[in-house]
Amino acid sequence: MLCVLAPAFGQTVSVIKAPYLLWVTDTEAIIMWETNAVRQARVTISPEGGGTAVVVDVTPATVVAQAVCTGLAPGTRYTFSVSTTGTPSQTLGTGGFLTDSPGPREMTIGVLGDTQELAANFLLNNTRLMKHKPELILHVGDLMTNGTDASQWNTQLFTPGKDMLRFAPMYVSFGNHESNSPNIRKYLPYPETMTGNPVDSRGHWYTASRGNAFFIFLDSQYAFTPGSPQYIWFNGVLASSAFRNSTWRILCCHYPAYSVGWEGYDGDANMRTYLVPLMEQHGIDLYMKGHTHSYERGYLNGVTHIINGGGAAGNETWGRNWPFIVRYDLILQYSVIKINGDKLEFRCYDFGNKLYDKFTLQKGVPFTLPGTPVIVRGPKSGPVGKQTITLKYPAGEGGRFRYRIGIEERRSEDGFWTPTPIMYRAGQEITLPVDFKSSGTYHVIAQALDAQYRASDWVRSEAIVIQ
Ligand SMILES: [Fe+2]
Repeated sequence: MLCVLAPAFGQTVSVIKAPYLLWVTDTEAIIMWETNAVRQARVTISPEGGGTAVVVDVTPATVVAQAVCTGLAPGTRYTFSVSTTGTPSQTLGTGGFLTDSPGPREMTIGVLGDTQELAANFLLNNTRLMKHKPELILHVGDLMTNGTDASQWNTQLFTPGKDMLRFAPMYVSFGNHESNSPNIRKYLPYPETMTGNPVDSRGHWYTASRGNAFFIFLDSQYAFTPGSPQYIWFNGVLASSAFRNSTWRILCCHYPAYSVGWEGYDGDANMRTYLVPLMEQHGIDLYMKGHTHSYERGYLNGVTHIINGGGAAGNETWGRNWPFIVRYDLILQYSVIKINGDKLEFRCYDFGNKLYDKFTLQKGVPFTLPGTPVIVRGPKSGPVGKQTITLKYPAGEGGRFRYRIGIEERRSEDGFWTPTPIMYRAGQEITLPVDFKSSGTYHVIAQALDAQYRASDWVRSEAIVIQ
């Protein structure tokens, strides 16, 4: 077959998708590419520090080619090169990766989401992200405008993402814009890592391990209600030793359970009802999602909820629904997770490449929330219009806190819970405006937030009658 597939002298192929990393474990890497004609190829994987190269010869059945490279050494940086094996040999592309070293160690993980539509924005974001040298990318879905259009996989993903995808495998939790297309399994055929996944959905939901972290990728385009194959599979994953023995448990799913970034959309009710309780019960640390083209962060019952949907698509409308979300903005952004053993540092960068949000999780250290602030002087009953509330953090010296306030009964109408931009010393009184826009009986609520935006319980005023 070699002589049939080998190109004639001088007959080169066009590279449609430059060689990209689909999957990297401690001993295996899966590399894929696409050319305009089927060609036999050779993948050469060389340890950066020197040593014996691994060579894999591939006879593709289609123009989309895949090389499964096994026998790699854990914790090793490799470079790779993909070339046709005809005469002359043509280099199709090069790249590099780090094999996993299971167990506690330092590692950097990139996060992108909703990179569809505006390729220039995606290119800028992924170029900046790669300067952090992530060994793995998490993508929370919506890779392109319409996943059934094969050309968009090139124009919106593989072409603007080629210099990212050749240096880090990207694991995707697929979104609604991939349209549940067969192109998903054609171009991103993630291996089956757990049993119990029906054939037609393999690669749509899957798991991966890296260092001491365990990742679960769900596909919110498939049913995940009780009794559904995905729900049953998910429960099996939660009971698995691989999940239970991991230090960090990160779940990626395109649909958010809670969202404040889109007016009229507060998140997916089925996610809230069926999956969030399982996440809380089984110790999911981070629930990473997209869909809303924003960045949002909240902490609820042990789970940190992150919307990382600012990968390329434009800003949209603005709504606010869930007071536990403490950081939110309709920004283009990417995020970087640094794990070092029991410590996880999360950073979100905006489209000016400025740090927008950061927080740290530490295993074995309680996620201590601030104490509740005190209302020193509250608003009074009276006419419609503006009043003030004076707050104080009760603790002594040493801490600095932000505050945010709102009118409990108007929280779905008022954009009230923006934290104060600056932090105030504990014990310092801070006076903030309260705007009663219509008559009624109201309670003003307030909370304190620490440097990581960890929020206290709400303090609630007496009833205020506005006429
Ligand atoms: Fe979406």
